[in-house]
Amino acid sequence: MLNTLSPVTEDLAGQSYAHPHYFQTQHRLRSLIDKYLAVEKLHDRLQDLPLQFANPQPRPWKPIDWQTINRNQIIGIDPEIFLSILIGAMDTEAPIRGYTQTSRQYLEKLHPQMAHFVGGTVAEDDNLLEIGLWEKEERQHTPALIKVYTQLTGEKITPNHRTVRAYLPTDDPYEDLYRQIGRTLIKTRSPNYQRNNLIRTLRRMMATLNWNAWSFTNKTTLLFTFTYTMHRLWTWNNTLPPKYLQNLFETSH
Ligand SMILES: [Fe+2]
Repeated sequence: MLNTLSPVTEDLAGQSYAHPHYFQTQHRLRSLIDKYLAVEKLHDRLQDLPLQFANPQPRPWKPIDWQTINRNQIIGIDPEIFLSILIGAMDTEAPIRGYTQTSRQYLEKLHPQMAHFVGGTVAEDDNLLEIGLWEKEERQHTPALIKVYTQLTGEKITPNHRTVRAYLPTDDPYEDLYRQIGRTLIKTRSPNYQRNNLIRTLRRMMATLNWNAWSFTNKTTLLFTFTYTMHRLWTWNNTLPPKYLQNLFETSH
């Protein structure tokens, strides 16, 4: 007989719990990573990339039922901390134009097609003629986060404006690119960024996300997520023959 008092609810991460134990949350995260970072999926996306260089195609979002988003869905974390993370995330995502243009400049010398994919096309006078596909996808994130915030709090919010680090090339474009990727992935924009010091960047990110207020379980859960994800990508990366990658990303001169 079905127990209607405690229905088992399912979401994208599998079974959901109103008061999950640490390992239940971990299990849910693992199933999300297994699903969205499955080797077949990663492989498929990688194969698709050169096609996207030639003919960029935005992927439509699945419809989101914004009205059903509510505070009861914040599980396992203090709602106020969750909201502060949302704010940190939207402030970080907001200067997307700056990120894509800096990235485009770093990529230009190394892989023009990738530069175009990320940052679009720019005229001689620095006027943006065409938006890159990456920016088209990314610029949807801040409005989505704002909607979630408004839905959860009933309040309007405007992201803080921050400036993005400008293009500052050295004589080593590869080294420059690696640094820029590091900064873009964790998206911080320190004006007095010190070389070789990603730790400082990480620290700034922690402040943005209100890390000190997180519970011990929240912290270990995030570290678990990073570790499991990076391990997955690292293992996959090691299966890709350099020759295959070279062919895939060969630029058409
Ligand atoms: Fe984003």
